[in-house]
This record gives sequence, C-alpha cells and structure tokens, in this order.
Amino acid sequence: MKIRNIILGTVMLIAASCAPKNETERKVDELLSRMTLREKVGQMNQLSGGAWLVDQAARGEVGSILNCVDPSEINAVQKAAVEQSRLGIPILVSRDVIHGFRTIFPIPLGQAATFDPAIVEQGARISAIEATASGVRWTFSPMLDVARDPRWGRVAEGSGEDPYLDVQMGVAMVKGYQGADLSDPTAMAACIKHFVGYGAAEGGRDYNSTMISERSLRNTYFPAFKATAEAGAATLMTSFNEIDGIPSTGNRWLLKDVLRDEWGWDGMVVTDWNSAGEMIAHGFSRDLKHSAEQAINAGVDMDMMSYGFIQYVEELVKEGKVSEKEIDRAVRNILKLKFELGLFENPYVDETLSAKVDYAPEHLAAAKQAAVESAILLQNRNNVLPLDKARTILVTGPLADAPYEQMGTWAFDGQKEYTVTPLAALREEYDVIWEPGLEYSRDKDKSSFARVRAAASRADAAVVFVGEEAILSGEAHSLSDLNLQGAQSELIAEVAKAGKPVVVVVMAGRPLTIERDLANCDAMLYSFHPGTMGGPALADLIKGKAVPSGKLPMTFLRDAGQAPFYYNHNNTGRPCNGTETLLEDIPVAAGQTSLGCTSYYLDTGYGPLFPFGYGLSYSSFEYDKPVLEKNVLGCDDVLRVNFTLRNTGKYEATEVAQLYVQDLVGSVVRPVKELKRFQRVSLAPGESRTVTFELPVGELAFWNIDMKYLVEPGDFRLWVAGDSASGDAVEFVVE
Ligand code: BGC
Repeated sequence: MKIRNIILGTVMLIAASCAPKNETERKVDELLSRMTLREKVGQMNQLSGGAWLVDQAARGEVGSILNCVDPSEINAVQKAAVEQSRLGIPILVSRDVIHGFRTIFPIPLGQAATFDPAIVEQGARISAIEATASGVRWTFSPMLDVARDPRWGRVAEGSGEDPYLDVQMGVAMVKGYQGADLSDPTAMAACIKHFVGYGAAEGGRDYNSTMISERSLRNTYFPAFKATAEAGAATLMTSFNEIDGIPSTGNRWLLKDVLRDEWGWDGMVVTDWNSAGEMIAHGFSRDLKHSAEQAINAGVDMDMMSYGFIQYVEELVKEGKVSEKEIDRAVRNILKLKFELGLFENPYVDETLSAKVDYAPEHLAAAKQAAVESAILLQNRNNVLPLDKARTILVTGPLADAPYEQMGTWAFDGQKEYTVTPLAALREEYDVIWEPGLEYSRDKDKSSFARVRAAASRADAAVVFVGEEAILSGEAHSLSDLNLQGAQSELIAEVAKAGKPVVVVVMAGRPLTIERDLANCDAMLYSFHPGTMGGPALADLIKGKAVPSGKLPMTFLRDAGQAPFYYNHNNTGRPCNGTETLLEDIPVAAGQTSLGCTSYYLDTGYGPLFPFGYGLSYSSFEYDKPVLEKNVLGCDDVLRVNFTLRNTGKYEATEVAQLYVQDLVGSVVRPVKELKRFQRVSLAPGESRTVTFELPVGELAFWNIDMKYLVEPGDFRLWVAGDSASGDAVEFVVE
C-alpha cells in the first residue's frame, strides 16, 4: 500500500511539472510579466473599507477589500482599480459571510446540529447568491476549527468537537459557496480557516497559545482542512494562535510543507486580521518589517490589515530577505483567483440586483428548515411537547422577542427588521400572554417576576426563551462561567412555581451548563442562535407541526470546570468504571486513599450532562443490533453494516443514525470512539427500515507511531446508535 502511494505521488508530481499551462495560467504569467514590484505588492495588500480606498485602488496599492457591502461603493473602488490603475487589475471584494448574508441561517454550530450536509450546502449557496448580489465574491468561511471547550466564544462559528462532522459540514459549505464553477457570478470563493489549531486555545481563552502535537494536528485538526482543500476551497486563512511557539502566520511547515508539498493545494493564503503584525506581540518578529518577511517566506500570499507587506516588501526584496520568486508565487495565486472568478470580464456588480434577491421567499423557507433541523430536544418529561392542545400560553424570557440577538454572532448584514421572533410566530398559533420577565440575557432585575408567575397561572403552559445575547459568543467572547447569565435561571424557577407545564427554549452561541434549569422545566429545546426564521421554526416545533431531529455537535457539560471534555478522547490507564466516589460519599477524616482510582471529578463525577450526538424526538426509535456483512476484513475491503431502525412512537420523525468505531489496540493510543458515518432517516409511525452504512476500511487509518497514515490490522468495535454513548458494541477484525 505504501509503495503504491509513493508511485502514485511521483506520477502526480511528474504530471504536474509537465502539464501544459492552462488558459488561466497563461493569462496570469502574461500579466505578471508586465507588473512592477510595487504593483505586485499592491495585489498582496488587503484593506478594510470602501469608498475611501479609491485613491489606493487607482494607484494599484490594494488587491482586495473587506467589510464594504454597498454595491455603489464597491463599484466606485472597482472603477478606480479597473479604469485608473496602470494595469486595470480588479479588486477582490470580501466579507465575513459566516451563516448567511441578509437571510441569516442558524449559527454554524447550530447548522452542524442538523447533521444534514445537504441543508448546510443549500444555506451556503443562498448566502453566496445574496452576497454576490451586493458585490461580495469572497467569504471568510467555513471555520473548520475543531473546538472542544465551550468557554471559547468561537465555538459558535464552527461545527463543534468532531473531526468527521467538521469534514462533512466544511465540504458542504465550500460546495455551496463556490457552486459548480467559480466563474458563475453567484459563486463566492470560500476561505477555510483558521489554519490551524485555533480552537485548541488553552482554557478556552480566545487567541491563547496551543500545544498540539504533530500527530494530533494530523489526526484531529487537519482532516477538515485537507478535505475542503481537496474539494476545491479557493483560499485559506492562517490563525492567530501559536502552536508550540510558532505563530501560524509564520509557520513554514504548515503553509509550505504540509499545505503545498504534501496536499498539493494551489489556492491562495491570506493572513487573519493583522495576524502578521501580531507576531511582534507574540515575540516571534522583531518589528513589522520582520513579520512581513517571516509571513511571506512561510508561504502567505495576502496580508489582511497589518500594512507590513505594502510598507516593507520592496525593501525586503532589495535586501535579499524575500526573493522575487516568493512574491511571484503569492501574486500568481491572487491573480489566478481573480481570473477564475471572472473578475476581469465582469468586475462590476449590478446595483439593482440585491433588492431583487435578498430575503427571497425560498431563502427564508430554507433558513426556516435549517432552524427546524438545528433544534435539539434535550428533555421532554411526560411528553409535554408538543403543546398541541394548549390554547393560552405564557411567553416569557429575554430571547422571546429579540430579533437582533437571535441572529447570533457574525451576522453583520442581516437586518433585524426581517427577523421573525418566537413571540411573533407563536401569536399565530396560540392566545399568547406576553411578559418579558427580563429585558436582556444579563438582566438581573427581578421586579416583574411576580407578574410573570401570575401570568403563568392563567395560562395552559409557559414557554420561556432564555440564552445569550449575540454579543456573548463569537470572537473575543470567552466565558469562564457557562450558566445562564443574569436572572434567567431564577426566571425559569419562578415560572415553574405556577405549576403549569414549562417549556424552556435556549437560544445561545455555545453549549451552556443548563443542568439546574432542566430541573425546573418539563421540556427543553436547545436551538443555538437560529437566525432570521428562528421564530417560525421554533413555533412549528412547539406546536408539533415539526418534530425535533437535531443532535448535539458538542458534549454538554454539567459544569464549566469539566472543559475541555469531548467524547472521542483517548483512554486513560484508569478509565472510569461507574464506581466513582463522589464528595458526599467521602467520610469526614477519611484515610488518604486515591478515591475511586479513576479519571473523574469528585463533584461532577465522570459523565457529561449530555453526550455528543444526543437529541430526543417527539417520537421514539429502536435500533436492532447491527449486523456486519463480514466480520473479518482486509485493508482494501469496504465494511458494510446493516441495521434496522424502527419508529416506535406516534409521530413521523427523523432520526440521525450514527456509526462509531473504536480501534482497540494501536501503536499509539486510539480514541474510545470515533464518528465515522451518520445518516438522517425519516420514518412514519410504526415504520421500520434496514439501513446500510458503508465504510472503506481505509478510513480507519490514522497517523501512527512512525507518523505514517495507515490502517493497523487488529480488533475493532463498532456501534450504531442515536448518540455517542448508546448502542451495543459489535466486534470486527482487520487483517
Ligand atoms: C477573524 C476572522 C475574520 C477576520 C476578518 C478576524 O478577527 O479572526 O475569522 O475572518 O477577522 O473579519
């Protein structure tokens, strides 16, 4: 297998070096041959702004702009670049279109909870259609940072803790943004970010250092980047963090050896916002000039907002610190993208287009469906949900009517006037008594609580909308306490005192620690920030017009002190065996023993509150024990596992069936479980279906003790279940 790979690799290299240049490459070469060094550096410079950049554009000193979404301003800057600069090279217009442009979809973490790559791809396509209508042809998305610590505010922007789910969601987004062909005017170049390890920030504190081994980079943090690079992602962004002392923006091993030489990726690399300049604060660069030298030599093509390239590259070239070859490499990658996007032929945006495209009914319908699928039912005592019989309901809580907040983080261009809140949507379904209780999520003013409780007594049921304001998650919004902020938990407890069924809906940017709140409600729906159409989606779920099908993309903790905690961890030498001694079990003046002798906390015990992959339905499902077509397989075989899934409840519903595998003994310790496949299966009440998962044995490969990517023969276990903590193991052997 190894020899075959080497031969294949060699053949590909020879093919690449002998390949005739395509039309785009010829155009790039021709243009490059006419450029001065100053013009080349101009292309490598990305600046934030709009109309005020006209002069720089006319001088050819800016290759890309970000943060301008006004079509007339964009056209003005473009006109200066195309009609006034010496070579007329168009500007590449970029924006953080993270989970929708105007029509806002659930935050990426919520989208991951759908376990539905098709709806995620559709959302990205719609985002591209709307953003390109305003002139944006490049988005800084998807964020692929595996994140295992909910204290990190940016967990909102990614797909959570699992590398395989991350791959599926990342590839779906890239396909959706870029469409079939980048030259299509509705295609928006994707930017896979942040390369790499940003989600492993120590303590969940944003921008913090990371210490990730090469093996763990390769097994956990690289896969989504590699898969999306192979899927054709046009650009990549470096990350703010350093790994083992090397900031990513200056990491030649990452940006050249791995990305270019190993993966053969030929897209364009941009820094994160001033991440080149920040290498000074890291203590890695002496000054801005040094940081520019290090970033370019490490493999960066474009500088976002450090101003270091535009100021110092000419000097650096003159001094021989940066070669013109490196500069040509960078400019080639930038020009190639501009040609591929068709910017030379069509630099301008039709200024009347966005009004026709934004918030189109089919966009809103897709956003609603994504929000329906992203909500996770965490608890439903006595089948309180759906509230299909209630007539009068109390609606309360700071997130019930917060059109801006429910869009979540990184929703710059979504207009709150178009957001439909749960309050508005529920009014279409019920007689609603509306008592906000709290004005915003951090509000501690309990003066209206008595009124809320009295209102709950008059209603058939109460629905309490709590969570986080949009500003509490996203970049630079780490938290050390993950309980509901302000007096929200007290509000839930107060409502519960009325003795009516209580439904809690949490709209948040991260997994919060909601154990104490579960005790005070009958049902809980966790919707993350659901976006523009969150209200109608949640109203449908509450009323029973739709059935929850979302599953947790991150482990939910009992207490923030458990973080980081993820299902696919390696085993310790003292795995927990269910016999933990807890604080209350310890006698006073106990002898000095190693209590329980396993890896857990005395206060919170071992387990999480809810495991990865968890989520209930209004219906119920039964899995038959999975049957393998073959229990002994070779490395080139495909493992086929069949199982019967039955809808044993009363509702037509969708279950996300999940396949997990464990490699029992490896040359290095292997995770206790790893997600390898999932599928959404919709069944009518009483219906059962035999479902097959196919998994090429090659996908059991990992970076082993010799840092080789191989399947190691031996014994394996697999589980097919509705979450990462259920199911009976089935064994198989790879020879
Ligand atoms: C963020 C990136 C983002 C960039 C441009 C940075 O602060 O880390 O994710 O794309 O800003 O807005």
